[in-house]
Amino acid sequence: MEHLAIIMDGNGRWAKARHKPRLSGHRAGAEALDRVMHYCRDAGIKYLTVYAFSTENWKRSKAEVSGLMKLLSSFIKSKEKELVANGVRFRVVGRKADLSPKLQKEIAGLEERTKGGGFTLAVALSYGGRAEIIDAANEWRRANPKDDLTEESFRAFLYAPDIPDPDLIVRTSGEVRTSNFLLWESAYSEYYFTDVLWPDFDRAEFDKALASYGKRERRMGGRLKK
Ligand code: FPP
Repeated sequence: MEHLAIIMDGNGRWAKARHKPRLSGHRAGAEALDRVMHYCRDAGIKYLTVYAFSTENWKRSKAEVSGLMKLLSSFIKSKEKELVANGVRFRVVGRKADLSPKLQKEIAGLEERTKGGGFTLAVALSYGGRAEIIDAANEWRRANPKDDLTEESFRAFLYAPDIPDPDLIVRTSGEVRTSNFLLWESAYSEYYFTDVLWPDFDRAEFDKALASYGKRERRMGGRLKK
C-alpha cells in the first residue's frame, strides 16, 4: 500500500468518557497521529493523509475551533526537528486561505523546510471534498477557458495532484460514512471502519486495518483475469 488516509474520529467521545474537556481528546488524537506515522513508515507506506479539520468544523464552538488551531500551530512549531530528522514531508490540503495569516505562514514555512522528505504527511485542514472539486473546477476554467474538461486535466488542479489516490481510507469511532473526505480521490479506495475511538488507535488496530486491506480484491472497475 502506498497511500493510507484516515478520518480521525471520536476524540470528543474519548474525552467525555474520561470527564475531560473535548480539547484533551484532540490532544490525545495528536499523540495517536504521532504513533500512526511511525507504524506507516514501518509498513513501507509513503503517504498518510489525515482529516484534521473540515470545512464544516468552523461551526463548532469558538473555544473548540481556536483550541484546535492552537494545537495545529504548536504541532507545527514543536515537530519540525523530528519531521526533518525522520524524512517527513509536511503538506496541508484544503482551503488554506480560511486559516489565520499567522497559521498560513507557519504552514508554508514547514512545507518548505520539509520538502526533501520521502514520507508525506498530508493534513486536511479546512478541507471539504466538494470544496476541493469546486476550487479545482474554477481554477481549471480560468486556465482553460476554451477547452473541454477531461479527468486528467482536471486532476492537475486538485490540492495535491502529485499525491496518488488513497488505497485505503480508515474511519474510527463507529461512524460509517465518508463525510466529504477526498471525494474525487476515493473513487476506487477501499474503506475500513472500526469502533475504536481515534485516541485509542494503536498498533494492533493498525495491523487489523492493513490485514483487512490485504484480503481485498481490487478490480478498480475492471475484471480480474482468471
Ligand atoms: C473528530 O473527533 C476529530 C476532529 C474534528 C479533529 C481531529 C484533530 C486532531 C486529531 C488534532 C491533531 C492534528 C494534528 C495535525 C496535530 P470529534 O471531535 O468529532 O469526536 P466526537 O465525534 O467523539 O465528538
